[in-house]
Amino acid sequence: MIIAVDGPSGSGKSSTARGVATRLGLRYLDTGATYRAVTWSAVDRGLDLDDTAAVAQRARELELEVSTDPSNQFVIADGTDVTAAIREPRISEVVSKIATNLDVRKELIRRQRAVIDAAQSSGGIVVEGRDIATVVATDAELKVHLTADQDARMSRRAAELESGSVTAEQLRDQIVRRDADDATVSQFLVASDGAVTVDSTHLTLEEVVDVISRLAKE
Ligand code: CDP
Repeated sequence: MIIAVDGPSGSGKSSTARGVATRLGLRYLDTGATYRAVTWSAVDRGLDLDDTAAVAQRARELELEVSTDPSNQFVIADGTDVTAAIREPRISEVVSKIATNLDVRKELIRRQRAVIDAAQSSGGIVVEGRDIATVVATDAELKVHLTADQDARMSRRAAELESGSVTAEQLRDQIVRRDADDATVSQFLVASDGAVTVDSTHLTLEEVVDVISRLAKE
């Protein structure tokens, strides 16, 4: 069983995908964490992020462990626990640039598919990311596209960040900018056939998890 969940920044896809995995007893893979980990490593090494060959080489060399336990998420990159570091604004601000590097995508998709294959023996996996339904796991049994209007997405992001670290205006700027940057990423993707769109604007997390879990059992 493979469930693919995608959606824009702040649509609640991470909490939703984790919630569905927990509810159904499945593994969980946050593919965005793999792009963030490569970004962290490239930044940590002081690489020129426009040097696509060097960044792709880093992606291939990086020793990466991403937890698939929905209730215990961690990311280890070259032996360093980067679980918190990959969420820092300095990473969020440049991750889209790394995600447009086709050789990085090729390497990370290869690794993601290996994780998905390994999870099949333990019942299945919920995989979160923009290209899962269309590229990484086109054979997913259930494909969910989560949406929410921009205000709802913004207030969720605000609640996620420690209060006071950014202003509401900065947050809106970040979301609008990453949507625009990800539109560039999207040019490499194709629209998904057979995906179910779930609008979470007026639903609680529990309600969204209910809807998707029910769809998975159909
Ligand atoms: O913060 P948010 O949930 O929007 O993003 P994320 O899932 O942590 O992913 C971070 C970034 O990685 C995205 O903004 C995309 O640029 C990129 N990404 C991608 O290109 N393909 C994926 N399957 C997952 C993430």
